[in-house]
Amino acid sequence: MSNIEQTLSIIKPDAVERNLQDQIKTEFKNKGFEIVKEKKLHISKDEAEKFYKVHESKPFYNDLCTYLSSGPIVVMILQKENAILDNRKFMGATNPQEAEVGTIRKKYGISIDKNSVHGSDNLENSKIEIDFFFKD
Ligand code: CMP
Repeated sequence: MSNIEQTLSIIKPDAVERNLQDQIKTEFKNKGFEIVKEKKLHISKDEAEKFYKVHESKPFYNDLCTYLSSGPIVVMILQKENAILDNRKFMGATNPQEAEVGTIRKKYGISIDKNSVHGSDNLENSKIEIDFFFKD
């Protein structure tokens, strides 16, 4: 039985700043992800706080929101069979230093904050996150 899913992917400010968005999009396409929708935008800190609300209680929350709103990002809906888990595997560990060879974060990530990409972590969040950026 097929399990076509959609997941939200963000190319974060550190990667957009280094002009890596086309390269990272090609990486996703080569892995079999279809980019169903995409847009480039620069969100406010307020919006970043809403997006990362699940991390509200974490010590890194404020820095995280400051960072995500520090420059343009590219948000995308990625689609494929098992997109959510496959995207998480392909991104690699949150900390690029711990990410496996061949993963996006290993290749492009700079630090745990500047880790180049975000991806939804489960089905429920993927729907919430897709709605957040692509409601209309
Ligand atoms: P992301 O997948 O976008 O989800 C939340 C982000 O918080 C994460 O990537 C990291 O970039 C950032 N972050 C900063 N510090 C930590 C930490 N100690 N543990 C987990 N995530 C962190």
